[in-house]
Amino acid sequence: MAASNLVPIPELYVSYDSAAKLKVDAGDLPSWDLTPRQVCDLELLMNGGFHPLKGFLGQEDYDRVVSEMRVADGTLWPMPITLDVTEAFAASIEPGQDIALRDPEGVILAILSVGDKWMPDKAREAAMVYGADDLAHPAVNYLHNSAGPIYLGGPVIGIQQPVHYDFKARRNTPNELRAYFRKLGWRRIVAFQTRNPLHRAHQELTFRAAREAQANLLIHPVVGMTKPGDIDHFTRVRCYEAVLDQYPSSTTELSLLNLAMRMAGPREAVWHGIIRRNHGCTHMIVGRDHAGPGKNSAGKDFYGPYDAQELFAKHQDEIGVEMVDFKQMVFVQEKAQYEPRDEVEEGMTILDISGTELRRRLQEGLEIPDWFSFPSVVEELRRTKPPRAQQGFTVFFTGFSGSGKSTIANALMVKMMEMGGRPVTLLDGDLVRKHLSSELGFSKEHRDLNIRRIGYVASEITKNGGVAICAPIAPYAATRRAVREEIEAFGAFVEVHVATSIEECEKRDRKGLYKLARAGKIKEFTGISDPYDVPEKPEIRLDTENLDVDYCAQQVILKLEQMGLIRG
Ligand code: PPS
Repeated sequence: MAASNLVPIPELYVSYDSAAKLKVDAGDLPSWDLTPRQVCDLELLMNGGFHPLKGFLGQEDYDRVVSEMRVADGTLWPMPITLDVTEAFAASIEPGQDIALRDPEGVILAILSVGDKWMPDKAREAAMVYGADDLAHPAVNYLHNSAGPIYLGGPVIGIQQPVHYDFKARRNTPNELRAYFRKLGWRRIVAFQTRNPLHRAHQELTFRAAREAQANLLIHPVVGMTKPGDIDHFTRVRCYEAVLDQYPSSTTELSLLNLAMRMAGPREAVWHGIIRRNHGCTHMIVGRDHAGPGKNSAGKDFYGPYDAQELFAKHQDEIGVEMVDFKQMVFVQEKAQYEPRDEVEEGMTILDISGTELRRRLQEGLEIPDWFSFPSVVEELRRTKPPRAQQGFTVFFTGFSGSGKSTIANALMVKMMEMGGRPVTLLDGDLVRKHLSSELGFSKEHRDLNIRRIGYVASEITKNGGVAICAPIAPYAATRRAVREEIEAFGAFVEVHVATSIEECEKRDRKGLYKLARAGKIKEFTGISDPYDVPEKPEIRLDTENLDVDYCAQQVILKLEQMGLIRG
């Protein structure tokens, strides 16, 4: 008899014939177009990765997951897997109805039988699940600024898997992995969860963990959604494939997990454990600050370094996966080998390169020594991330109407063109409103759309190695942050707050608009009758009141130079 971790796990898919029929019938149902995160969640719901969940959480399950990490029947489940929708869509749906869940291209993946519809208390969800209602946490930011306001819950009938065109052979469902382990006679399997490239220290620690647990090793990286700013999964998978040769043959396998991470530290570790159990693993490596989201808005860590290990250990039996301590491996120069830091003899020279230092070296094109990583991995990373001086970037001016944004942006553009080397595009507020957003007005919704369009174009320019200079008012911090995240996936985002006061802008009143706004002839005018969120931490703040345009543009150039974006 196969060990319990290797027997097939229930999936939510119907048979091939039923799926074909259901798909036709579902064409008449109301449709919800899934967000990228919902596609990831749905895939793991349908293929058993989120077993024992049978669909998106209903309200009773949700409430108990949020408060106690358990679904209503008491089973351990740490993460709210919810289907968030817009108010307008929710208004058109009643509990008891079926809806078709479609991928972004319109393909029907599943049917949801809506059991519950409710408005969640997002602040409570943030505080209970992520530890604080603080927008510096990526999942809290997502909850408040991306997720819809209403949740729908109910069982899911799986019709087909989401389609992936990349690395098909490396993607495995829980049952495919279980079958693979059965076939190879693997009984004990240590999973290594990761969202970063593997360097020599990781290779040493993962292999050591497998040896200690007398198990085989599954490198199980997340390729769904990770922390904003992470290295893209295409590059990472090429890096993982390059490292695979370093393990003794037949000991280690690489499989990709289409999970949307939440960076929820301790709760996330428990969730990762359950997901690995479902994928047939018996052990999981849990590290210091597992799935940590970084610093909170007060500059402190969200979770203690060992909170994840403690919570995991406490629930280990219920998770059904044994935790393997992550040993920090360091290079001992005298021995020219890696050892766990706490086993290094006194007097030895320890070498290590932090993540921040590695990024700096990559950004500046500096040496990355052989003892630290594998040449093939470094080559991949350099291919994707050339030194900053060769990457595209975006300079994003924000400030009141008449603050001087456009003038300084123009001067900067000319200076950048004089320097040469990269194509430069100016996305000035007025120009954008003429060419990209001519149908939009100045409501919050329209301004957001306008800025998101600018962000999209700027991110494409940045991705392709150009310089985008944007100069809209962009009054809302949440939208600026979303644009920053979109652009930082490809290059630097340099926010320039043109901090001319509203009094000074009104005094200058170059276009005569302030006068009209005061007279109530222009509604929703920024700074007069509409809000402006002052940027808290822009890369540069320019006070134009006592400075000339040339000097302001020069300040920006100096900043770009200091950030390594331009080189002499
Ligand atoms: S936003 O909020 O970022 O979408 O605005 P933006 O696209 O930069 O457009 C701002 C320019 O439109 C003119 N204008 C207004 N500004 C603010 N509020 C209201 N209600 C408004 N109505 C028209 C104004 O000339 C702005 O130009 P700039 O270049 O900023 O002076």
